[in-house]
Amino acid sequence: MKSIVLTGMMGSGKTTCARHIAMIHGGSFVDTDARIVERAGMSISDIFEQAGELAFRNLETEICRTLSGQGDLIIATGGGLILREENVAYLKKNGIFIFLNRPADEIYDTVSLRRRPLAQNGRDAFLRTFQAREACYRATADIIISDFSTVNATLNEIKEKMEGMR
Ligand code: S3P
Repeated sequence: MKSIVLTGMMGSGKTTCARHIAMIHGGSFVDTDARIVERAGMSISDIFEQAGELAFRNLETEICRTLSGQGDLIIATGGGLILREENVAYLKKNGIFIFLNRPADEIYDTVSLRRRPLAQNGRDAFLRTFQAREACYRATADIIISDFSTVNATLNEIKEKMEGMR
């Protein structure tokens, strides 16, 4: 089975959905942020604070390289992972990209973004970050998801659209 790669903004539900998909359909759950934390031995916030975003992005690319070509993984990506073409190329080798297009204003208003260093500059900045990335999320997606009414609804839309690809 090809790996499933969930993309989208911080707080769009990538980790939650990936865990559920892995539980229901099998496959190994992988969270790129968790891999980065493991490798760096410190939290995402500490990496950003002490080493800077570039160091974080380099670690992210390193993780993508190690996951490249592997099948049977359900991968929750960090929200900015798709910004580097190299990362996308690594994960596209054997992965289907699913963009969780949860509206950024809804995310900002309802999800706790405390631990996300790039979400600490207010609502407008968060919405601008989404606007700057949207084209990239869309261009890299094989499937785009738009129902976030409940986790089950999101999972059902993923399932239906994946079946539609066959
Ligand atoms: C980031 C999203 C975070 C994490 C880092 C940068 C981003 O992951 O990778 O803080 O650039 O959008 P989540 O999308 O899981 O919050």
